[in-house]
Amino acid sequence: MDHTTVGIVGGGPAGLLLARLLHDSGVDCTVLESRDRAYVERRQRAGILEQGTVDALRRSGAAERLEREGLVHDGIELRWNRRAQRIDFPSLTGGRRVWVYAQTEVVKDLISLQIAHGAPLLFEARVETVAGAGTDRPVIHYLHEGRRRTLGCDYVVGCDGFHGVTRRAIPDGATRTFERVYPYSWLGVLADVPPSCDELIYAHSPRGFALHSMRSTTVSRLYLQVSNGTDPAEWPDGRIWDELDARFALDGDWRLERGPITSTSVLPMRSFVTEPMRWGRVLLAGDAAHIVPPTGAKGLNLAASDVIVLARAFAHLKETGSAELLDAYSDTCLRRVWRAEHFSYFMTTTLHTDPEQSDFDTRLQISQLDRIAASPHAAAELADNYTGLPIG
Ligand code: FAD
Ligand code: DHB
Repeated sequence: MDHTTVGIVGGGPAGLLLARLLHDSGVDCTVLESRDRAYVERRQRAGILEQGTVDALRRSGAAERLEREGLVHDGIELRWNRRAQRIDFPSLTGGRRVWVYAQTEVVKDLISLQIAHGAPLLFEARVETVAGAGTDRPVIHYLHEGRRRTLGCDYVVGCDGFHGVTRRAIPDGATRTFERVYPYSWLGVLADVPPSCDELIYAHSPRGFALHSMRSTTVSRLYLQVSNGTDPAEWPDGRIWDELDARFALDGDWRLERGPITSTSVLPMRSFVTEPMRWGRVLLAGDAAHIVPPTGAKGLNLAASDVIVLARAFAHLKETGSAELLDAYSDTCLRRVWRAEHFSYFMTTTLHTDPEQSDFDTRLQISQLDRIAASPHAAAELADNYTGLPIG
């Protein structure tokens, strides 16, 4: 049986960044990823990186292309009642900002570094079970190249996303879960057209939420609130552009540029937290431990902050022999996780239209948005959360 210090299940952003950070501290690890490389590199997801995420990528030498191609953003725009309000991040947060750089690109950069100089990263290695969480020698059972294999580990970290298997290694009753499912989804759209704005636009409208984001100076990323269970086939290109036009409409001058749509997909919205994020020698990180609705752009950044805390704890263990930081891992992360859960819930429920929503509920949303526009304190609260709180 092969052996490693840290067995990492899942080669998404959490697993790949953890492997990089462990490599830098001289802690040995192996990453097992069920999909093939091309699939992992093409999976369209998040697009906004906080300062703490960018700093970690820089420290681990994975930010070279991000420095060249990433777009630095100093604010976002909120729209409601046909008016717009810009939220300026640096002036409200003491200088913080965010980067627009797609998750697909972060994953590509981390994979190529890992393959060039890193610990083993196995694609098409599907983990079936993790066993022995409560012992000193947990094991990972996985399928690779048609054969069943076992990897013995000092610790196993589940970075295998919401539908992964590692969470199941923790006995029933040892954890508590918290969950909320939202009565709407997002239609995500990728279009080969330069963005119609310099900064992201988050729009509240009586027709539902819309978000204008981007992937580069030539590719726009757009989202529309749609009903749960929507089939993307119900949304031909013309209908998408007309609906975006209606939801972003302003009294002032503004024009949404149209272009060829290259992909559409529907994303359900959920909040989920499992506590604690560790049991015995099995630890959970990223979406395996918690999910947020995407409105606050927190999912990828939370995954990164978990593994930054965890890599520090493993380095501390190696240097000093003390498991103190590892023992504090779950509590340290959960404070930040719950802040992000609240912020994502707040952004989601302030900007979306619940199908059951009354006029009273809508007036409350408008009052909240008016407050953000009128009060630097309310705007600073949004900016502080959006740009990300310090890690650890
Ligand atoms: P994941 O990215 O899910 O990675 C988990 C990895 O584990 C995957 O590569 C998977 O193939 C692998 N895996 C799973 N099971 C096994 C197994 N049994 N054996 C081996 N490997 C396994 N966040 C935002 O901020 N903005 C967005 O617009 C946004 N859009 C999203 C759209 C979708 C469809 C989803 C699912 C998430 C989205 N998110 C978004 C959230 C963000 O992308 C995630 O928070 C982020 O990917 C979390 O990273 P992770 O590494 O924890 O999990
Ligand atoms: C993107 C996704 C988000 O959920 C968000 O809040 C901002 C940007 C994006 O995919 O670009």
